[in-house]
Amino acid sequence: MPQTIGVPRECYAGEKRVATVPDVVEKLIKLGFAVAVESGAGDAANFSDDSYRAAGAQVVEGAAALWSAADIVFKVRPPTMDEVALMRAGQALIGYVWPAQNPDLMQALAARNVTVLAIDSLPRTLSRAQKMDALTSQAGVSGYRAVVEAANAFGRFFNGQITAAGKVPPAKVFIAGAGVAGLAAIGTAAGLGAIVRANDTRAEVADQVVSLGGEFVKVNYEEEGSGGGGYAKVMSEGFQAAQREMYAQQAREVDIIITTALIPGKPAPRLITADMVKSMKPGSVIVDMAAEQGGNCELTVPGEAVVRHGVTIVGYTDLVSRLAKQSSTLYATNLFRLAEELCKTKDGQINVNMEDEAIRGLTVIKEGSITWPPPPPKQVAAPPKPAAKPAAAAEKKSAHGGSSEPLPASSLAIVFGIGAVAFWFVGAFAPATFLSHFTVFVLACFVGYMVVWNVTPSLHTPLMSVTNAISSIICIGALVQIAPPEMGGMRPDGLIRWLAVAGIALTAINMFGGFAVTRRMLAMFQK
Ligand code: NAI
Repeated sequence: MPQTIGVPRECYAGEKRVATVPDVVEKLIKLGFAVAVESGAGDAANFSDDSYRAAGAQVVEGAAALWSAADIVFKVRPPTMDEVALMRAGQALIGYVWPAQNPDLMQALAARNVTVLAIDSLPRTLSRAQKMDALTSQAGVSGYRAVVEAANAFGRFFNGQITAAGKVPPAKVFIAGAGVAGLAAIGTAAGLGAIVRANDTRAEVADQVVSLGGEFVKVNYEEEGSGGGGYAKVMSEGFQAAQREMYAQQAREVDIIITTALIPGKPAPRLITADMVKSMKPGSVIVDMAAEQGGNCELTVPGEAVVRHGVTIVGYTDLVSRLAKQSSTLYATNLFRLAEELCKTKDGQINVNMEDEAIRGLTVIKEGSITWPPPPPKQVAAPPKPAAKPAAAAEKKSAHGGSSEPLPASSLAIVFGIGAVAFWFVGAFAPATFLSHFTVFVLACFVGYMVVWNVTPSLHTPLMSVTNAISSIICIGALVQIAPPEMGGMRPDGLIRWLAVAGIALTAINMFGGFAVTRRMLAMFQK
């Protein structure tokens, strides 16, 4: 008997998202589950009851009927106490829970003897977990929307223009905090043509800012801002003073500030003071994405857009919900990927495997026992630490398709022994002309091996195209054929000469084409 995934209508005021969408319903059914959706659950995100029915879901009237029909409940917002009261022993709940911020909710859920997987507790730095990372997918949407809100409140174009009606300078945008949302905002604002600058306490994001078309503005104070797991920490007084000075200068220069700075488990850092707002040009805009956590700007009013000192300060706390169709689709895909991990047998039954590091991290309550917080993760991908030399060498070898297991010393000795005997035979018995060619060949193999092996794997494709261009050395052979004898050529007659001409033409295409392709490939890496 397949388990039923139930999707209730979100009851948090202003929440427009829904935990699954019709396209994903079809995929969940293919995994063996039955799907029940509360009537009207997708209305605010433009997914009608009929579209869910067409995808194979059963549409149920009312929350009580939905919660009682479901074995597994997919939700967006943490459940309300009324919703918890609808749960029964043995049920599973998957959605945002924020266990650190909601101890009462955790106790209430545990008392219902249920299993709870908090999507916000996913160990994000596990590369395998990225497909389930709803925090990232939703932050990307809100970063994009923050720029759209800024553009809406700003009275000018983002891109510079020269028209018959006059010259328009490009808008200058400053992004405070270059995490997932900040990077999405940088990409969007740069795409609209603005001049984008950004700052973050974690120095490692500087390259990412530049790769998205922004300029990283450093604080004139040396302090490492990484608090572990890719997150920030609270900075020293000295750093904060230097940062305030730099932000005050940016506030005077830019037209738009988008703030995204957060520190897990702490109130949002106050980065934009009332004086900085006062110093901004009239008509400027601040979008404070940290409004819900107390705000990065002193004058933010959470949930509202207000005008202070001629500056519009947008403190909306529902930026993700304002793109409900997009964010629901991404969220639904994250939950589907999680369902795949939970149901590897594709028989519509979930298995909460606590041996799996990603599932262990997510599972905050297992059959009524609180299992949060999880043990510290074993594998941390960000920030990358320089690995010990042998490990790095092994990794490089496997990246090149070789085995990561080094040969044992005895096997190595045998290989070298056979090689030495073979070389002795060649040296002793081969004709002298062969020997000189063979020496060049062996040296070429050795130099080629050393050069290619030391190229970063990601640059192998441009390397291939440039070596292809180098192979056009054949051109020299063709030139020797058609050159006059006084220049060392042979000048053959008839067919050979025309073949040489054709050879030169073809290798010219190969040569110039190869270099042109390599240039374009390298330009892609420089973006
Ligand atoms: P977040 O929402 O907690 O913080 C947003 C940004 O604010 C962070 O970049 C943080 O460094 C910055 N910040 C905090 N205090 C600041 C201050 N005083 N001044 C300026 N900036 C400040 O973090 P988010 O965006 O959820 O994730 C942050 C990072 O986590 C990502 O950039 C990434 O490096 C890492 N991460 C890694 C993943 C992976 O390895 N698969 C997946 C998701 C995130």
